[in-house]
Amino acid sequence: MEDKIDLHKQLDENRQGKAITLERTSKENGKKLFLESYGCAMNFSDSEVVASILTGEGYSTTTDEHEADIILINTCSIRENAETRVRKRLENFKNRKKRQPGLIVGVLGCMAERLKKNLLEEEQLVDIVAGPDSYRELPSLITEVEGGQKAVNVLLSRDETYADISPIRLDNKGVTSFVSITRGCDNMCSFCVVPFTRGRERSRDPKTIFKECEDLFKNGYREVTLLGQNVDSYRWNMTSKGEIKDESMTTTNFAQLMQLVAKISPDLRIRFSTSHPKDMSDEVLEVIAANDNICNYIHLPIQSGNSDVLKRMNRGYTREWYLERVQKIREIIPDCAITTDIITGFCDETDAEHADTISIMKEVKWDFSYMYKYSERPKTLAERRFKDSVPEDIKGSRLTEVIDLQQANSLVINKNRIGKIYKVLVEGTSKRSDDFMNGRNDHNTKVVFPKGNFEKCDYVMVKINDCTTATLLGEVVEVCQPSKN
Ligand code: 5AD
Ligand code: SF4
Repeated sequence: MEDKIDLHKQLDENRQGKAITLERTSKENGKKLFLESYGCAMNFSDSEVVASILTGEGYSTTTDEHEADIILINTCSIRENAETRVRKRLENFKNRKKRQPGLIVGVLGCMAERLKKNLLEEEQLVDIVAGPDSYRELPSLITEVEGGQKAVNVLLSRDETYADISPIRLDNKGVTSFVSITRGCDNMCSFCVVPFTRGRERSRDPKTIFKECEDLFKNGYREVTLLGQNVDSYRWNMTSKGEIKDESMTTTNFAQLMQLVAKISPDLRIRFSTSHPKDMSDEVLEVIAANDNICNYIHLPIQSGNSDVLKRMNRGYTREWYLERVQKIREIIPDCAITTDIITGFCDETDAEHADTISIMKEVKWDFSYMYKYSERPKTLAERRFKDSVPEDIKGSRLTEVIDLQQANSLVINKNRIGKIYKVLVEGTSKRSDDFMNGRNDHNTKVVFPKGNFEKCDYVMVKINDCTTATLLGEVVEVCQPSKN
C-alpha cells in the first residue's frame, strides 16, 4: 500500500487498497519475490514478517512484478470492495500465468482465511493460499507448488505471534515503523470479519517488542506505532480477568508496555493503534500524559453515536460511556488529538439513530474520522442476526453528510492551530514540491514547511501559518538537538 508507511497515511490509503512494493535483497537463491499488501496496518506489518521469512530462504524482493518468480498478495476482507479490488488483481495475474507458466501466485491474509480452498479450486486463481498464522510454512508451501501441487494452509493458531522473527522493513525511508503487539481479536463486533479471519487474540512477549523497538531506534528510526486490533486488551501472562497465568513470570498490561517502550529514548516517538472505548483505561491515559515521547493522539473508533445501534453492533459501550472516555482523555491529557471510525447505514439504522451520529460528531469534534458505508460480511454476527436493510443510496447520503461534517470540523480545528508551534518529526521531501519537506506533529497531523537544510529523522519546531482540512503549513523556528540519553 505505501511507498512510505506511516499511520495516518497508511490507514488512509490502505483503506482505499493501494499497494506497496519495495525492494530488498539478501543471500540470493536467484528467485524474485513481488509482495503486495492491501488492508490494515497489521497486513503491512505481516508482509514485513513474510519478507523476512522468504529472504531468509534466499529470495530477493522486487518492485517490478514483471520480473517476479513468485507473487504474493496480502489481502483484506473488511469490506466487500476491498475483496473486489484484490480479485481483479488476481484475474490479472492469472492471465500472466498463461504467458509465464512457472510463475507462482499466492494469496495471504484475510481473504485467504475467509475463502480458503475456493480460490484454489473453484476459481483456479492462485497456487498458494496462506492464512495469517501460517507464514512460517510459506517455504514448504512454495516447495509443494514447485512439485506440481496446489498448496493451502489456513490453520489459525492460539499462540503464533511471530515474536522471534525480525521483520524486514519494507519502507525505504527509515523514519517510522509498525510493531505488532497482539494478533487476532476476541471482540466479535457484529459487523466485523476480523475475528473469523485473524482468529483469537494473543499478546506478544514484551521483551521481543522492546527489542524490536530498540533495534529500530538504533537503526535510525524515530517513531514506532504499536499495533493491535485492540491494544488496550494487550496482556502478557494474564487472563482477560487480570489473573496471573504463571507466577514465575512477570505480567505486563498495555500501560506498562508503553511505559517500557517509552524508556528506550526520549527521541523515539511512540504511537499506538487501535484503542477500544470499552477497554481504554485511565492508567493508559496517565502513562501517555507522563511521557513526552508518547504521542498525544488516540484513535478511538465509535462506529455509531446511537446506543441502540452500538448494542446491535455488539460494541460493549454506550454513547454516554464513549463521551465519558473522551472527557477523561481531555482531563488527563490536555490537547490530545482524537480520531475515530464511523459506519453509516448499519442494519436497521433509522434516521433518528443516524442523527445521533451527527450530533455526537458535533459534540466530540474528532480531529479526523475514517468513514464507511456498512458492508455486510459473510458469517459475521450481523449477517446471521440482522437484515442489511438500509438501502445503498441512504447509506451513501448518510456517509456524505458525515464526511462533509468531518471536513468542516477538521478545518475549524486546524484553523485554531494557526499561530501555534509544534514539534515535528521530519519524514522527507513533500510529494507536491521538492522545495518543501513534511512530517507529523504529536497529533499525527501532516505538517509541511520550506525545505531548509533539514534531514529526515530530524525533530524541528514549526510555527503554523496556514492550513487545509488535512494539513498544517508552517515554517521551522528551531531545530531540536538530540537528547543525551
Ligand atoms: N462495513 C463497514 N465498515 C467496517 N469496518 C469494519 N467492518 C466493517 C463493515 N463490515 C470498519 C470499522 C472498523 C474499521 C477498521 O473498518 O469502522 O473500525
Ligand atoms: Fe473488528 Fe471489533 Fe475486533 Fe475491531 S474490535 S477488529 S471492529 S471485532
